[in-house]
Amino acid sequence: MPHAIPEPYCWDESFRVFYDQLDEEHKGLFNGIFDCAKNRGDKGKFDSLYALLAGHFKFEEGMMEKAKYSEFSAHRDIHNGFLAKVKALEIPLTDASVDFAKNWLVQHIKDVDFKYKGKL
Ligand SMILES: [Fe+2]
Ligand SMILES: [Fe+2]
Repeated sequence: MPHAIPEPYCWDESFRVFYDQLDEEHKGLFNGIFDCAKNRGDKGKFDSLYALLAGHFKFEEGMMEKAKYSEFSAHRDIHNGFLAKVKALEIPLTDASVDFAKNWLVQHIKDVDFKYKGKL
C-alpha cells in the first residue's frame, strides 16, 4: 500500500527520521514542492527546488557513506534516477508532474529513507 499524500502538502511527524538536519531538509523539500505546485509556471521556483533536492541528496548520501551504510549505493542510484526525471519536467508543471513529485517524496522517505533510521 502506498503511503498517503498529506493535504495540504507539508511535512509532519510521521516522516521523522530522527536526524535533525535531515528532518529539516525534508521539511524544506515538502515546502519546495508545495511552492512549485502553487506556481507551476515559475522556472525560478522550479530551479530552486531542483537545487534543494540535489543538495539534500548529497548531504544524505554523505551521511550514509560516512556511516558505511550497506545500502548507500542503491539509495544514491534512486536519488539520481529521480533527479533525472525532475530535470526532464517541463514548465509549466502539469497535474501529472506535480502528483509525481509529491508522491515520490512521500514514498521515498517512508520506504527508502526510513531504512537508515538508527544506522547513520
Ligand atoms: Fe533518500
Ligand atoms: Fe531524504
